[in-house]
Amino acid sequence: MCGIVGVVGRGPASALLLDALKRLEYRGYDSAGIATLEDGSLTRRRAVGKLVNLKSRLDSEPLAGRIGIGHTRWATHGRPDETNAHPHMVDGVAIVHNGIIENHRELRNDLKAAGAHFATETDSEVVAHLVSRERKNGYEPVAAVRKVLPRLSGTFALAFLFEGHDNLLIGARKGSPLAVGYGCGEMFLGSDAMALAPLTDIVAYLEDGDLAVVTREQIEFIDVNGARLRRTSAKIAGAAVIVHKGEHRHFMAKEIHEQPKVVGQTLAQYIAPDGTIRLPAGVDADLRTVDRVSIVACGTSFYAGLIAKYWFERYAKLPVEIDIASEFRYRDVPFGAGNLAIFVSQSGETADTLASLEFAKTHGQRVLAVVNVQTSTMARSSHIVMPTLAGPEIGVASTKAFTCQLAILLCIAIAAGRSRGVLSAEEERSLVRTLAEIPDYMARALELEPKVHELAREIARARDALFIGRGTNYPLALEGALKLKEVTYIHAEGYAAGELKHGPIALIDKGLPVIVIAPYDATFEKTMSNMQEVIARGGRIILLTDERGASLAASSGCSVLALPDMPPIVAPLALAVPLQLLAYHSAAIMGTDVDQPRNLAKSVTVE
Ligand code: F6R
Repeated sequence: MCGIVGVVGRGPASALLLDALKRLEYRGYDSAGIATLEDGSLTRRRAVGKLVNLKSRLDSEPLAGRIGIGHTRWATHGRPDETNAHPHMVDGVAIVHNGIIENHRELRNDLKAAGAHFATETDSEVVAHLVSRERKNGYEPVAAVRKVLPRLSGTFALAFLFEGHDNLLIGARKGSPLAVGYGCGEMFLGSDAMALAPLTDIVAYLEDGDLAVVTREQIEFIDVNGARLRRTSAKIAGAAVIVHKGEHRHFMAKEIHEQPKVVGQTLAQYIAPDGTIRLPAGVDADLRTVDRVSIVACGTSFYAGLIAKYWFERYAKLPVEIDIASEFRYRDVPFGAGNLAIFVSQSGETADTLASLEFAKTHGQRVLAVVNVQTSTMARSSHIVMPTLAGPEIGVASTKAFTCQLAILLCIAIAAGRSRGVLSAEEERSLVRTLAEIPDYMARALELEPKVHELAREIARARDALFIGRGTNYPLALEGALKLKEVTYIHAEGYAAGELKHGPIALIDKGLPVIVIAPYDATFEKTMSNMQEVIARGGRIILLTDERGASLAASSGCSVLALPDMPPIVAPLALAVPLQLLAYHSAAIMGTDVDQPRNLAKSVTVE
């Protein structure tokens, strides 16, 4: 999603801005631009597509100046073309924007009626017009921005640059993340610490409603009335580490292969030396007293929550309400007092999940965030944070964050079972011993890669694909289908295997690969019956199972991917690996942009 950077520095700004924008590429974008102040005047360069296009533009038409703002745009309002790319400039004011100005139509009409001419189809351009109008009314830059912000509905992170003010950047935030970075005689603005990492490791985050007035000497935080605010800066550990692909062609491949290690690290945080689960202070008490848990998330993180629902019910007999964040926040949820709401997010910035978190908080829920970015807004807004230690996930398609989320949710479910007296101490220890084996099973799952690669050749030729499973294999089927469609653009659907005959069976023909996820568990035989129904109609099966399941399905004539036999709690984490590999290899064969698939954004900061 859109990325923002700003520099008020000592040397040429445009190279620093381009470098910082590179670090935001992972968020997904379709055009980019930079504006600087050169001898007090604004100049900009913009380009459609990847940053290399902007770079070649800058190579042929360099931008001078020690102060500037930059942007990667993920189109919402208006096509992804150069005209709509940010920065937008109106009469001496340049702006970059992340978010959506919901009342842009009304504002645009007012401005047009007053004689303004619009150059773009974007919602963002109204902000540049409004601020430039206040400048013409005689307001200084900070006062002009303060006058405009209350008129904007929706969400924004904004950065402003003003002609004639070569020692001033203004940042403003409502709903979309924005950080400032401290240097020596130079200061920075950025969407996240990752963007600022090559520039500084001292960072402070704007809260909603904050303005940051940034000069070379200092950063001042004020509210919209001009009252001073105190915001603390912190040293961001590790953010400066440049993430490389290592020996892999793509980040997605690297991240799939990292899973045994990062899942092991994530689990180790919560396994005590006495072989029990140790959760952050207060969570056990919450789990003992609540009468239900809500889990809310989007996309892959939502599927992690859906798998956890099965675990909470099984190990803790605890009812779980699970919802997609964009639905949850607009429902009339009958919250019980003091229940626990768990928000699952890799980025910790997803707009709908964040809004749902605030919604739950205002309704008296205890809020626990399972996030991968520990400095994210969700982490800072929650009562309790349980970080996944997946490390930076750069591939847009989530892989290692997903399995680390599962690892944490499994720990919470087991701890809930103990706190509520459903699991005995010995049962808890026995489950924890199994948890400790998960990284090994995941490593064994990676050994299936050559076989998965072979099957991917067939998938890469398909137009559609179906994934089916029962129990925890059902959300896994949803995740397998999501992974495949987002990186290959092949239409794929996940279904509960028992639902097949209620509609989707009509799709079955020779050209439709059906990926059946069925380790040998309590629902194995039922899923085998569903598989036979597909075979009887000429469908082509890839069976993802374990050794026992493979031996029982030996005569079915389908392609089999068999993992070692494994305990049921291990299965979702281990089975996720071949599903991710299948999506990855199909995409690599097809030659799609695996790490930044078309139209997708990593950090979805708009609704
Ligand atoms: C799919 C994927 C997305 C995210 C979703 C939520 O591979 O990555 O579906 O899971 O956009 O993002 P987070 O977890 O950052 O809230």
